[in-house]
Amino acid sequence: MAEERFRKEETLEMRQRLIGQSCRLFYSEDPVKIVKARGQYMFDENGKRYLDCISNVQHVGHCHPAITKAATAQMDLLNANSRFLHDNIVLYADRLAATLPKKLSVFYFVNSGSEANDLALRLAEQYTRHEDVVVLDHAYHGHLKSLIDISPYKFRKLAGQKEWVHVAPLPDTYRGIYREEHPNPGQAYADTVKHLIEEINKKGQKIAAFFAESLPSVGGQIILPQGYFSKVAEHVRSAGGVFVADEVQTGFGRTGTHFWAFQLQGEDFCPDIVTMGKPMGNGHPLACVATTVEIARAFTANGVEYFNTFGGTPVSCAIGLAVLDVIEKEDLRGNAVRVGAHLKDLLKKLQQRHEIIGDVRGVGLFVGLELVIDRRTKTPATKTAAWVVKRLKEEDQIFVSTDGPWESVLKFKPPMCFSMEDAELVVGCIDRILTDMEAKNLKLENEDI
Ligand SMILES: Cc1ncc(COP(=O)(O)O)c(C=O)c1O
Repeated sequence: MAEERFRKEETLEMRQRLIGQSCRLFYSEDPVKIVKARGQYMFDENGKRYLDCISNVQHVGHCHPAITKAATAQMDLLNANSRFLHDNIVLYADRLAATLPKKLSVFYFVNSGSEANDLALRLAEQYTRHEDVVVLDHAYHGHLKSLIDISPYKFRKLAGQKEWVHVAPLPDTYRGIYREEHPNPGQAYADTVKHLIEEINKKGQKIAAFFAESLPSVGGQIILPQGYFSKVAEHVRSAGGVFVADEVQTGFGRTGTHFWAFQLQGEDFCPDIVTMGKPMGNGHPLACVATTVEIARAFTANGVEYFNTFGGTPVSCAIGLAVLDVIEKEDLRGNAVRVGAHLKDLLKKLQQRHEIIGDVRGVGLFVGLELVIDRRTKTPATKTAAWVVKRLKEEDQIFVSTDGPWESVLKFKPPMCFSMEDAELVVGCIDRILTDMEAKNLKLENEDI
């Protein structure tokens, strides 16, 4: 077992005293102290094993030996900034280019998803010479000031909406304004963006960019309707803006069938800018912006150097390359297809037995289970979702968390080595908890707990 420096209570006391309290803990009432991890499992200070269903950053598995080896070997040799010529950065950019449409052939390496999105904003503004941004409702694009401004999930709780930011409806076909029964929800939701752009132009403003996650995560593990991105891209480009696909959560094969989630929208769709982060370095701070030659050229034309101290160092790129190798060697995309389908299938079967499960959706290892008080009204079962999360942790040592505007969606974004047995275990435990709740006739939303 890993050596512990402080007892759990001491660590907690120091944490409360020394670390800003806006940096929250999971399970704040009874936090878990984790001292080591491997694959899809995490271990507490007593050696108790937890199944991790949510760490999409540790993409190829916690502490994967191939990643540790690549990092330490490069660290032992050289870690300088990217102003010196080095093979790793070009090798890595070349490997990333091979996963993307040809048009996206220029790369900027940064340290976090937020930095990537902030740079995407600058690229878009510089290229279009416009200022306004259209984002999806409930979106989150990062913690920098510039990104809080374009994240309704955050700005609604803070300073509010800036006049250059415009919010389009979330294309949620389960509970949004156009639902499954609509003949063409992709087109209908794209039209809402078209109308928004018309309104913006009427005010004499012009859009620089449309930002969207290829699969909205904080929005509630949403699967976008087919055709949506292509149609939106048409409207955005004809208004002189660019299309930014935020792949910070969803890239690097999480969907299984495709390396990038935007590719689910069809072969003919290509964003102008793609931002990536979380899974890229398997926990090492590594993120990136990919764009076109034209946009990169416009950014260069301002004559100002773009320098990022830690972006694209030989160590970061060695780690990034190792992550790509493991995804391929261990067929993690194939695993995401197989295990993701099994997980979804088991959850769908569960839905037939438990009224409270309103919707099961997902692709690959990006899956959501939405709980509702009433299937007809779709009132979110927020407290029940929190209750299930708590019991899974306490009774089964399983980490799951919630997402969505009402925190009513149980989300699954596990490390990509998640197995069939893991899927069966977590679904079996959810089944037991819901069955128990029903047997006791607990009405959690009415404060029965
Ligand atoms: C979709 C999306 N974009 C951007 C970010 C910001 O990334 P980071 O926390 O690495 O700055 C996040 C983080 O949760 C995210 O979910």
